[in-house]
Amino acid sequence: MNNDRRPMTVPELVAKKARGERVVMVTAYDYPSALYADQAGVDAILVGDTLGMVTLGYPTTLPVTMEEMLHHVRAVARTQPRALVIGDMPFLSYQVSGDEAVRNAGRLLKEGGAQAVKLEGGAPVVATVERLVAAGMPVMGHLGLMPQSVHAHGGFRVQAKEPAAARRLLEEARMLESAGAFALVLELVPDEVSAAVSRALRIPAIGIGAGPRCDGQIQVLHDLLGLFDWFVPRHTRRYADLGSAAREALARYVEEVRGGLFPAEENTVHQAELGDPETWMK
Ligand code: KIV
Repeated sequence: MNNDRRPMTVPELVAKKARGERVVMVTAYDYPSALYADQAGVDAILVGDTLGMVTLGYPTTLPVTMEEMLHHVRAVARTQPRALVIGDMPFLSYQVSGDEAVRNAGRLLKEGGAQAVKLEGGAPVVATVERLVAAGMPVMGHLGLMPQSVHAHGGFRVQAKEPAAARRLLEEARMLESAGAFALVLELVPDEVSAAVSRALRIPAIGIGAGPRCDGQIQVLHDLLGLFDWFVPRHTRRYADLGSAAREALARYVEEVRGGLFPAEENTVHQAELGDPETWMK
């Protein structure tokens, strides 16, 4: 539990790296999960497009729409967390043109209440990052495994395993930093690569499946809490098994309703004057 209520800001998040403090991030997609994450003291909440997979049942993040993102960003922002709220830009919300990217990023801030946006990609999105930053919108980059490019990657696989690909990733990380990104997610890359990128940048590199030598870590909330057990990535750690707890609790509810044990007297309201139903039903 963290009682520090000073709001996290983009400059403060960046300053953590200079102070040698690790940045802690988690995804959250709705009001209660954002409250839990904020009460636990995370620095930033990413309303990630992973919500498509872990809360909406899509097989990838590709079908997620702007309207779905806005719906979830609003729910998280309504908690008025101390943590910075970052809204993920869904597939095709920023790739088609710079104008569309500005409009859609603006919607996440203006209508959703996010304080920053995240988008995936290296060289091809540098000009877009520059435009968003020039428009006053803080941008977080995302390199390594980019789930919106899952078909190009050939699956959810570790990236930058070869020296040429690792060099390219480092180059693109530097390009994003020069374009004005305030931080970077590094997803599913070897520890050696994320350590080199973290060392080379002034902005924080936040890892997921990228080893312990990043400037910070992000995880998907449902993985940490055991709420998504159809697929458990190797890079996560289960801090709770809420999926089993939920199944057991609901099975008990079903059993108790069927067995006449719920609702009990303490769950029931009486109105003495109504007395015997036979007297007023007629
Ligand atoms: O969409 C998401 O949740 C993400 C994190 C996994 C970094 O991009």
